Amino acid sequence: MRATNGFQILLAIAAVLALGRPAPSAPAPPGVPEEGKPIFEERCAVCHGKQGRGDGPEAPFLSPRPASLISAGTSVKTDAELLAVIANGKPRTSMPAWKDLLTEEQRRHVLAHIRTLVRFGPKSLTPPPPTGP
Ligand code: HEC
Repeated sequence: MRATNGFQILLAIAAVLALGRPAPSAPAPPGVPEEGKPIFEERCAVCHGKQGRGDGPEAPFLSPRPASLISAGTSVKTDAELLAVIANGKPRTSMPAWKDLLTEEQRRHVLAHIRTLVRFGPKSLTPPPPTGP
């Protein structure tokens, strides 16, 4: 019986260890836009603009200028691509690395907020200028 008990204890320890850590492939929970909005407005809007249009007060003094985060060019990028830029910055631009200033969770919140700046729907569409006669 001794051997069985020892084996059972080992099994219990293994189970606790296995349950104690999240599975490595578990997807990160989605960011919460409402959490990201104040962070964006405090940290990012100075360059990217409150609406993410690349027109923050610092923008005219930067070269290259921050591009619009609501452009198709940014929108088509995956969350993983944009999270990598936010974490590590963008080489040869003034885009800083945020990995030491914002937690991984905060960076996901900020990205979730950026995604909400892109609006689809007839109300947000500006009609094209009328063509000449
Ligand atoms: C000092 C100015 C500055 C600040 C502050 C700043 N950025 Fe940037 N950001 C840039 C510039 C310049 C670029 C490079 C040009 C571009 O891709 O827009 C950039 C690029 C990006 C891109 C990549 C866009 C793409 O399509 O590849 C993302 C995403 C981004 N910034 C998010 C953020 C977030 C989130 C914050 C705040 C936590 C932030 N930025 C703060 C200047 C800034």
